[in-house]
Amino acid sequence: MKRLAGKVAIVTGAGRGIGAAIALAFAREGASVVLAELDVGTARETAARIADETGSQNVLAVETDVTQSVSVQRAVAQAEQAFGPVDTLVNNAGINVFRDPLTMTDDDWRRCFAVDLDGVWNGCRAVLPGMVERGDGRIVNISSRAWLGGFGQANYSAAKGGVVSLTRSLAIEFAAKGVTVNAVAPGIVDTPLFRNFAPAVQDKLKASVPVRRIGTADDIALAVEFFLDPAASYVTGQTLYVLSLAGFTAERREIQRGIDFLVATQKPDGSWPMISRSTPNGEPGSSKLLTPITCTASSWSTLGLVRLVPKKP
Ligand SMILES: NC(=O)c1ccc[n+]([C@@H]2O[C@H](COP(=O)([O-])OP(=O)(O)OC[C@H]3O[C@@H](n4cnc5c(N)ncnc54)[C@H](O)[C@@H]3O)[C@@H](O)[C@H]2O)c1
Repeated sequence: MKRLAGKVAIVTGAGRGIGAAIALAFAREGASVVLAELDVGTARETAARIADETGSQNVLAVETDVTQSVSVQRAVAQAEQAFGPVDTLVNNAGINVFRDPLTMTDDDWRRCFAVDLDGVWNGCRAVLPGMVERGDGRIVNISSRAWLGGFGQANYSAAKGGVVSLTRSLAIEFAAKGVTVNAVAPGIVDTPLFRNFAPAVQDKLKASVPVRRIGTADDIALAVEFFLDPAASYVTGQTLYVLSLAGFTAERREIQRGIDFLVATQKPDGSWPMISRSTPNGEPGSSKLLTPITCTASSWSTLGLVRLVPKKP
């Protein structure tokens, strides 16, 4: 018998990326899965692909905005109508709003919190009453290694830190009621964001990982599945990092030494031809060149780098 046979799971933000991999993994293991997604068109395509790949009839895409509690409650109601009581929830939907803290707008701050933290709470609140009543439930919240802090992501870090705190509090609150609440904190994952980096940057990132590869969405799905295992009923309030520990500690050391920020240099034609790492006291011009890359302004902002320095003539 499949490990998740008879389970009813909701995965938020499951139209693509990590959420889609989690939904596929659940369906493979026999769970009925609801993809609760803002972009319902993509979610429907993903649901069809999952049904095709697994042969499951029990895969449903439901339009959901996790920032709106009513919308999440509606998704839970639709899931229950289709498949029965929801016993598994993965709060995966999330957005990155990388900004320099000093230029971040109120909207940048709130948008990030609305999806990354309010969204998790809205999900938990919508399923907890039923789970508590039945004495059975598993909730897994997707945080990020970034909750430990990082440059250019004060809002994202704070929201993802809130996810860890919320996870621990709810775990304590509901442990005796048969509901476990855990978190998964991925490091960098092979998603379109990573693939948009220049090959040289990708190589550098890979080289910083002891296993010499970047994590995949399937790596994250496996970690989530662990918390669903019947044998994991004693495990609650935990945050499971899915990343390279060695790379992680090196990065922390650099942050503690105050070295870690990166500098983009803009050419007069508007292109961003290089990224360099700053030295502790150095001017950007004296920074050590990491790698020459071709970088557009939009891919630049997704890199989460924090200093934009026009090149001196
Ligand atoms: N990709 C990484 O390297 C990485 C690293 C650490 C943590 N994470 C976390 O993993 C989770 C998934 O990341 P991903 O890389 O797969 O992201 P992604 O952008 O590929 O997918 C996120 C999905 O969430 C959906 N979504 C956004 N806002 C929503 C809303 N208001 N309501 C419902 N759905 C919404 C999007 O439409 C999208 O389908 C996020 O919480 C992210 O913060 C990702």
